[in-house]
Amino acid sequence: MEKIVILTGAGISAESGINTFRDSGGLWENHRLEDVATPEAFARDPVLVQGFYNARRAAAAQARPNPAHTALAELQRHFPGEVIIVTQNVDALHEAAGAQVLHMHGSLDQALCAACDHRWPAPLQMRVPEPCPACGAPRGRPDIVWFGEIPYHMEEIIGHLESCTLFAAIGTSGQVYPAAGFVQAADAAGAHTVELNLEASAVFSDFAEVRQGPASRIVPAWVAELLP
Ligand code: NAD
Ligand code: APR
Repeated sequence: MEKIVILTGAGISAESGINTFRDSGGLWENHRLEDVATPEAFARDPVLVQGFYNARRAAAAQARPNPAHTALAELQRHFPGEVIIVTQNVDALHEAAGAQVLHMHGSLDQALCAACDHRWPAPLQMRVPEPCPACGAPRGRPDIVWFGEIPYHMEEIIGHLESCTLFAAIGTSGQVYPAAGFVQAADAAGAHTVELNLEASAVFSDFAEVRQGPASRIVPAWVAELLP
């Protein structure tokens, strides 16, 4: 049995109108990530941090999946149980296209209580303070993995990488670990590895194959080669 693991990053959602982080005009050009994407930042200035994610949630709510998301969902439907999609993205565009995905950096759609770990559907605009509906603590935060925190689903993802036959990374700059190291784990497992990105990522030389271009064009073309 084949097992295909696909890692996606901000680049796959760029053509749906969602800003990437590190490209010119990207989110980290206007915000220092230490100011908005760490637990320390949230403790220091929760209004700024909630405002940053409220703006991103509003943008994500307007966005629609593009042909790259749709092609991956089709691939997953064609090979039930054989296509694992892992995303660093916090938007819900893979789901909107009909795919099932592991969100290793969390989701804008969810709120998390920093006191009791309860999760609930995030309102479009989270407040400060945002009370937890389960325990009442004024500790509601976006359910986003911030710098210095441990990404979600790591054991499950590592298990899939160790048994995969094909690994693809789509629209990710290869600058943030542990995701940037997944190619090496897949390669060690004997998988064929392919990068699909607008330009060479920081880890492009770890891949057996590199394809460059906009995701909405190169992902459907790659998927078409895999379908019977
Ligand atoms: P880091 O490498 O500095 O720290 C990650 C920590 O997690 C390290 O201490 C590492 O040892 C540990 N770790 C990694 N995998 C683990 C595993 N399987 N089991 C136990 N521990 C594990 O990374 P960072 O720069 O602090 O970033 C952490 C994460 O937060 C990254 O995945 C990053 O992309 C994410 N992040 C998300 C946003 C966002 O806005 N969505 C912003 C910033 C960072
Ligand atoms: N098609 C394909 N690739 C694209 C497109 C496109 N239309 N537009 C941009 N790209 C590529 C860029 O060339 C870049 O290499 O997507 C990549 C986006 O990289 P980043 O902005 O660094 O996003 P990502 O790799 O997902 O960031 C990882 O960093 O800050 C954290 O938690 C955040 O999940 C995020 C993580």
